[in-house]
Amino acid sequence: MDSKLDRWNRLKEICHKCGACGLAARRKSVVFGEGVLESRVMFVGEGPGEQEDLQGRPFVGPAGQLLDRMLAAIDLSRESSAMICNIVKCRPPGNRTPTMEEGEKCLPYLRAQVDIVRPGIIVCLGATAVRHIIGPAERITRVRGQWLERKGYWIIATYHPAALLRDPSRKAEAWSDMQSVRAKLEELGIRHGDASMV
Ligand code: URA
Repeated sequence: MDSKLDRWNRLKEICHKCGACGLAARRKSVVFGEGVLESRVMFVGEGPGEQEDLQGRPFVGPAGQLLDRMLAAIDLSRESSAMICNIVKCRPPGNRTPTMEEGEKCLPYLRAQVDIVRPGIIVCLGATAVRHIIGPAERITRVRGQWLERKGYWIIATYHPAALLRDPSRKAEAWSDMQSVRAKLEELGIRHGDASMV
């Protein structure tokens, strides 16, 4: 059977050629996602911003630096124990919110990524991830911090790090959500395995 790495690389190659929606026309890079294929937890943001589009890597701008600190606070990192992906893989012009249609067109890639990694825990970062993963009518302010189990995955939402940069008063709630992720990881048991980053 193909390894996770083979499946990941094959999917990435297909995604890099994607022209399923209008975002393809203006992208500099496809930002597929990065982290550890053996991760127990996948963090899902909205879509690439300017820096991500330039570098082809998720969460490398200011919001990404905060995300890295949030991960470190619960002893995780993209290099050793977490996977980081987005709802859309191409930058929406001017960093606008991706439309529902753009998100839906891109979602098969995320579903396939989840299927390869089988993370156990999925953390929705912000409103766009909540709409596409939890439900189109759901609101981040209503669902954050609450666990739900779907198709064998534990799902939780917290604020997007960019929202925390705009409104630091929400950091206490985000901190508590991250502690909740840590507790769930411990409950499920940390996976030991190959921890190289893809
Ligand atoms: N914001 C996101 O939602 N994703 C990124 O990769 C960067 C910023």
